Amino acid sequence: MSERWLDAWYISEADYPAAGRRFEQCCCLLRYAVLAPSIYNTQPWRFKITDRAIELYADRTRALPVVDPEDRQLTISCGAALFHLRLAIRYFGHTDVTELLPDPHNPDLLARVRPGKARAATDEERRLFRTIPKRHTNRQPYEPRPIPESLRDALRASAEAEGAWLRMVEGEEARAHVADLIAEGDRLQITDIRFRREVAAWIHPLRTQSHNGIPEHAIKFGDLLSTTGPFMSRTAELGDFQAETDRHLVLGAPLLAVLGTDADHPLDWLRAGQALERTLLRARASEVWASFFNQPIEVARLRPRLRDLLGGTGFPQLLLRMGYGPPARPTPRRRLSEVLL
Ligand SMILES: Cc1cc2nc3c(=O)[nH]c(=O)nc-3n(C[C@H](O)[C@H](O)[C@H](O)COP(=O)(O)O)c2cc1C
Repeated sequence: MSERWLDAWYISEADYPAAGRRFEQCCCLLRYAVLAPSIYNTQPWRFKITDRAIELYADRTRALPVVDPEDRQLTISCGAALFHLRLAIRYFGHTDVTELLPDPHNPDLLARVRPGKARAATDEERRLFRTIPKRHTNRQPYEPRPIPESLRDALRASAEAEGAWLRMVEGEEARAHVADLIAEGDRLQITDIRFRREVAAWIHPLRTQSHNGIPEHAIKFGDLLSTTGPFMSRTAELGDFQAETDRHLVLGAPLLAVLGTDADHPLDWLRAGQALERTLLRARASEVWASFFNQPIEVARLRPRLRDLLGGTGFPQLLLRMGYGPPARPTPRRRLSEVLL
């Protein structure tokens, strides 16, 4: 890795100033928080270091009004960053004291976190923390090698530990239904000019030198969107192409799973984000990659159909494909100075 825009990933636990000033310690913890995944790599978070705590704010200037009109996935992304922050606090020797949505008059203040009692990290916390720089979204095809039952159980337990659930899509019939929903979502989204414009603003070859958005190298399949999305006039063909590409990836995936919650409010989205990140780190710590197919949740009228396929209860938040595969590269992150309030 020589590109400067990947600087954020050059991080070592030796950088933590254990005997340094509190502000420097907080900055170091936040360098781990910003490595979290976020929708389209929008990194929709801001942090404030106060006398007593670190506050996490939603940065709604980075919202995606077409694909995410309620800021649901924006909030989930912030929840993922929050999990990294909590894990870093634990790794460096304290419990974390975390309040979610602590100010009813300020919905942008998503969480307030501070170190609690001194306490050595558990083995699992150490493992997950050390996996932070090794986790990337991997959109390439995965090997057919199945994921062991014990790891599937551990993934379910990871989501549950953070107040969400993870349901596996089991059986060929259910998997084919989900692939159909994804294909339908692809066609509906791609034929919407507002969707194509929004995607193009964040997924573009020119993003390769930027600190935001998805660079070209991260999109192996479906890269038609990245280059021609906004200009394509024969959108029906583009929709069919995307739908078939996704169907192939979905049907070949060793594991398809839906992460969801029992309710569907900002508090649940924050929990879903933390659960997502715990689950992704648990998977990656066991060499398993993941990528997302959220179309049947983003398109409002498909979401109840996905829910019915899963047993009819709760609210699907994210649809994940998981498996073993070739390496993936990191995507850029904004500098800490850009996200500090
Ligand atoms: C809430 C959320 C939704 C996402 N949705 C998608 C998606 O629909 N398709 C996709 O390819 N990636 C999706 N991603 C992955 C992001 O694009 C990815 O996290 C971001 O580009 C940063 O890259 P990294 O995960 O490799 O660090 C999503 C991530 C999050 C947190």
